Amino acid sequence: MSARNSNEIEAQLSAVQQRATDDISAASSLDELDKVRVKYLGKKGELSQVLGGMGKLPAEERPKIGGLANQAKTSLQAQLDQRKESLQLAQVKAQLEAETLDVTMPGVYRIQGRIHPINSIIDQITDIFVGLGYTVAQSQEIESDYYNFEALNFLPDHPARDMQDTLYLPGGQLMRTHTSNTQIRYMENNQPPMRVLASGRCYRRDTVDATHAAVFHQIEFFAVDKDITFTDLRGTVQLFLEALFGDIEVRFRPSYFPFTEPSAEVDVRWQGQWLEVMGCGMIDPNVLKAVGCDPEVYSGFAAGLGVERLAMVQSKIDDIRRLYSSDLRFLRQF
Ligand code: DAH
Repeated sequence: MSARNSNEIEAQLSAVQQRATDDISAASSLDELDKVRVKYLGKKGELSQVLGGMGKLPAEERPKIGGLANQAKTSLQAQLDQRKESLQLAQVKAQLEAETLDVTMPGVYRIQGRIHPINSIIDQITDIFVGLGYTVAQSQEIESDYYNFEALNFLPDHPARDMQDTLYLPGGQLMRTHTSNTQIRYMENNQPPMRVLASGRCYRRDTVDATHAAVFHQIEFFAVDKDITFTDLRGTVQLFLEALFGDIEVRFRPSYFPFTEPSAEVDVRWQGQWLEVMGCGMIDPNVLKAVGCDPEVYSGFAAGLGVERLAMVQSKIDDIRRLYSSDLRFLRQF
């Protein structure tokens, strides 16, 4: 394109602008629009070509043409942007219309997992005690007589050792009957002060009924330090049960365990009756001695809770066997 004077260039500019404006509004897709942009504003586009003729103009006319060219460029760019936006909008709208959802179509069924009430209550209780500064410990389910009974101050002829109560293994080992073995194993390897929580499976030759299972879960918690008293135990149990259940009536009953002195059982009021949920007491001096801890210097409390019982209270379950029935209609309620 060649031009001899500024009038001619001006005319060319406005012709290019007019065509560009027409092409922009005619562009019906983003692709087309981009082609229009290149055609007019690209490096070798029509606008550049018109301006190429500027070199031949007298110097005093160049600023005027330069200004006009810039105006044309800005205006075309603005038109391009605007068109681009409306084309994009139209595209989204078309897509939305094309992809309407049929909400009456049957969905893809996915089975949703749930936390079992037993694991859920173990988690909740662990959280409460971790909040009180307790350490979480574990010990084994296959135990020796020493850790399950002897070090816990059970006399050699204690009835709990009977074949009736304890599941013995061929080599003389046994399935632990409670989580109290953790007390001995933990205290053997750690020095007071200590606050410890341990949960796990326990085993007994119990006849299965609505409140007994041969395999069940317990949580043991204990604290050993200087000057620990029964009041600390009471306060901890009360605080814990309130954290778990909110308002619930709690009762301490004197009891007996070989490994605590004094001992108590704790009941909660459940469906009009008292339900025993844990045993507890001050750790017997003989137990402290068994792990090399001086009972003249240290004292402690311990408690063991039946997890299933607590789950039953919390979830209003009437029969312990439901917890193991794997009946999904039942388990999905929680
Ligand atoms: N081990 C007892 C049981 O299985 C529960 C228990 C009672 C644990 C008193 C304790 C405790 O730590 O102090 O029945």
